[in-house]
Amino acid sequence: VKRVTTHIIQEMKNRGEKISALTSYDFSMARIVDAAGIDIILVGDSASNVIAGHETTLPITLDQMIYHAQGVVRAVKRAFVVVDLPFGSYQGNSRAALDSAIRIMKESGAHAVKLEGGLEIKESIIRILSAGVPVMGHLGLTPQSIYKFGTYTVRAKENAEAEKLLQDAKMLDEIGCFGMVLEKIPSSLTKQVSESVSIPTIGIGAGPHADGQILVIHDMLGITKEFKPRFLRRYADLHSIMTDAVSNYVKDVKANDFPNEKESY
Ligand code: KIV
Ligand code: NA
Repeated sequence: VKRVTTHIIQEMKNRGEKISALTSYDFSMARIVDAAGIDIILVGDSASNVIAGHETTLPITLDQMIYHAQGVVRAVKRAFVVVDLPFGSYQGNSRAALDSAIRIMKESGAHAVKLEGGLEIKESIIRILSAGVPVMGHLGLTPQSIYKFGTYTVRAKENAEAEKLLQDAKMLDEIGCFGMVLEKIPSSLTKQVSESVSIPTIGIGAGPHADGQILVIHDMLGITKEFKPRFLRRYADLHSIMTDAVSNYVKDVKANDFPNEKESY
């Protein structure tokens, strides 16, 4: 199979082919997601929520992100693998940001990193790019800033925030990012941004005008049950399927029905 590259992702935007992306955090899941034909796998810091059970993405560490990324990279044959730089690993100064990106690339074998923010982290992004590491931006609802926002509601509904987002998007394009995530912003703003930048936009809760779409795999498979924002389409009800499977197993063990003769040596 031919590996997806930043060049191939850019060509998809150029010819109007939508880009498919999902998160994964481990080998077994990534193997399924990759074999099913996804273009981009993001090892998201949403692992902090769906894997570790934290309320926010802030607690996850660089070491933990690298551990998740290692499993994913071992599984992937085709997809382009992007890894989130976690909170605190890149905001302070550009040297720290570069060190974090280099650790991810060296220790996991991933293909790119993603950072949240615009102008505030411009120097960090430039420094990582100068080391030859592809960078994906992330604008709109940036969960590492949840305590600044105070809520997970739609961002950039006001003119001032929308204008800053558009300027940040143009800046990410100009300094050489290969793409950007747009999270939870109005559909009309996604359209304007996607038409204003040359690089692909990947939306989540950002409407149909982004150049691609991404979802958290546990959400789209229906493993997480309580999380149901309007942007989420569930493609399976794994919560029910897994609950039934486990309760049937418990029943069979209790009834001494499992294992049977054929399942024994
Ligand atoms: O961490 C994550 O899963 C993400 C995507 C939702 C874009 O950043
Ligand atoms: Na993230």
